[in-house]
Amino acid sequence: MQVLLTPDQIHKRIEEMAHEIAVDFGNEPITLIGILNGSLMFMADLLRELKMPTRIGFLRASSYRGTATRPGTLDILPGLVPDVAGRHVILLDDILDTARTLSGVVEFLQSLSPASLKVGVLLRKRGRQEVPFEPDYTGFEIPDLFVIGYGLDFNDDYRQLSCIGVLDEANIDQAHHPEVISKAVHIVSLTTE
Ligand code: IMP
Ligand code: MG
Repeated sequence: MQVLLTPDQIHKRIEEMAHEIAVDFGNEPITLIGILNGSLMFMADLLRELKMPTRIGFLRASSYRGTATRPGTLDILPGLVPDVAGRHVILLDDILDTARTLSGVVEFLQSLSPASLKVGVLLRKRGRQEVPFEPDYTGFEIPDLFVIGYGLDFNDDYRQLSCIGVLDEANIDQAHHPEVISKAVHIVSLTTE
């Protein structure tokens, strides 16, 4: 695994994003809505940097890209979304890839009549977007690589890494999971000493 972003780089950028949000909202109350599971770490770290009254909520969204279902079909489980009518909402996700997930979720949240709706992503992959979409807050633009860690998964693994890394093709096999985790922990300990 190659480290693409260290915990330090991630935290510095999240502090800056919190500042961008403060410039836009001042002390107005906001509601952060995170898309599970990927946004978990990003949400938790951004939340700690915000000074205005902030509520949180979550939803799940799964897109089906196979030929068996219509492309662009998005399943939204909104069970943990609080009442956002008349409130300022910032939707958060780990990564903007094709933008299909976020554009579907934005359409859903608009139907709940928030006072305003903005979107923040930690990562944005270059050259992958399939539908027009511009997030309001972007952490990092990254090349078209498959990334893991800091909430991002490969087959639901590796979310616990505190860095963001690129998995080597040779390590795609799940049997390498413990080695990848311990190597990542080692690399991160070197960068944070
Ligand atoms: P989109 O609808 O194609 O923009 O998909 C966004 C979702 O795909 C994200 O919420 C992630 O769950 C997942 N995803 C896209 N690229 C990656 C990646 O490089 N690593 C891990 N998950 C990814
Ligand atoms: Mg996700």
